[in-house]
Amino acid sequence: MSLLGQIRKVFGLGRTLVTLAIVTILVGFWSTPSMSEAFKLGPKKCQGCHKAEYTVWEKSPHAKSFKKIHKSKKAKKIVKAVGGKRMKKEALCANCHYTSVKKGKKFKIVAGPSCESCHGAASDWINIHNAKKPKAEKVAAASAKGMIWPSQLFDVATNCNSCHGLANPKLKGDKIKAMLDSGHPINPDFELVKYSQGIVRHRFYPPKVTENQVMSPAGMSRMYVIGQAANLVAATGSLSKSSHPAYQAAQKKRIATAKAILTKIPEAAKLVSAPTRDNGRALWEAIKSKDLTSVVGGKLPKDFK
Ligand code: HEC
Ligand code: HEC
Ligand code: HEC
Ligand code: HEC
Repeated sequence: MSLLGQIRKVFGLGRTLVTLAIVTILVGFWSTPSMSEAFKLGPKKCQGCHKAEYTVWEKSPHAKSFKKIHKSKKAKKIVKAVGGKRMKKEALCANCHYTSVKKGKKFKIVAGPSCESCHGAASDWINIHNAKKPKAEKVAAASAKGMIWPSQLFDVATNCNSCHGLANPKLKGDKIKAMLDSGHPINPDFELVKYSQGIVRHRFYPPKVTENQVMSPAGMSRMYVIGQAANLVAATGSLSKSSHPAYQAAQKKRIATAKAILTKIPEAAKLVSAPTRDNGRALWEAIKSKDLTSVVGGKLPKDFK
């Protein structure tokens, strides 16, 4: 009798339920959206309407790492340290390294971090974000369904931090320790302007929809501030997760770098004393049309990732 049959016999459950339970166990609890939750559709779904953005993404480290990262010695060592066998089968790794798409009742890994890793799982918003409606209405409707719009910059930045800086709220201390001790990197210098305006940059905003536009210095100054705001919130929130010395050092460095600029921005006073997401979003609302170049000045990166 097949394994499935045996389990079914023992538990007297229907096939669907058993399959569901097995799938849940196999892919793990951390990353797996439940069946009713929003799920990812994969970058190919976006390609048809967003060719330019897709072409940029394809050449980025996010896309390219898919074919190689699991083969490295380092990756194999880290997977083993967390009790897994293969990186592509390990849910913990998949959360940050892969795009997992719903195929029937199962989840399948189809790419590295991609469109929906940054803009939100699209199952519930893909058909409303592009409707012929006033922009504000669309933004409200699609974000209620999980879309992260480029204009919601604090949320965009917070989302990068769910992978970069190992500050994901769901990542537990024992896993952090196992990862770091087996050689997983932790980067205390993730800064939004430097990391989003280089190879990752896709800014085909109308009316120049064929041009990947360079961000203005004023735009970069705001982005720098909001990136640091998100880093402050993420790093502060993650300090209590792990006492690992490398982890503590990295998060403390992130906090110090963020405070060095935020204490110079009057609108950020509340966030500095209470680093919460709501205060971060309020800061974005307060500065989103300001030019902060005179305050941020020399801190803007000279070269980009
Ligand atoms: C059927 C065509 C279509 C598909 C498929 C599609 N989009 Fe869009 N998308 C649009 C249109 C049209 C807009 C412009 C809406 C607006 O801003 O008025 C848009 C806007 C966006 C924006 C906001 C742009 C801005 O300037 O604020 C993002 C982000 C985005 N799409 C991401 C995605 C992602 C990710 C996918 C795949 C999961 C996707 N889209 C699939 C047509 C599409
Ligand atoms: C919380 C998100 C997160 C999780 C979970 C995670 N990684 Fe990573 N990993 C990253 C990021 C982000 C980078 C890129 C380096 C950086 O910017 O910190 C990275 C880099 C790596 C690298 C490249 C190291 C190098 O020196 O080039 C390897 C290998 C790796 N991860 C393996 C794994 C494996 C195996 C797992 C599962 C046990 C895993 N990662 C889990 C976020 C994560
Ligand atoms: C690493 C995170 C990340 C990934 C991956 C990503 N985006 Fe974006 N996207 C952003 C950020 C950040 C912005 C705001 C960009 C800015 O102003 O520099 C943005 C802006 C956009 C915009 C508005 C600007 C424009 O080009 O019209 C669209 C549309 C968009 N993304 C679609 C996509 C699609 C489609 C994919 C996948 C092919 C994708 N994005 C992949 C982070 C990401
Ligand atoms: C789902 C997790 C995830 C999210 C969200 C994410 N990244 Fe990444 N990013 C990674 C991983 C994993 C790597 C390492 C890939 C590799 O090299 O194998 C990486 C690598 C990069 C790199 C190349 C790093 C280098 O040192 O060359 C850049 C740049 C980058 N990410 C920018 C961003 C930005 C900006 C955002 C948010 C707008 C973002 N990422 C959101 C997971 C993520």
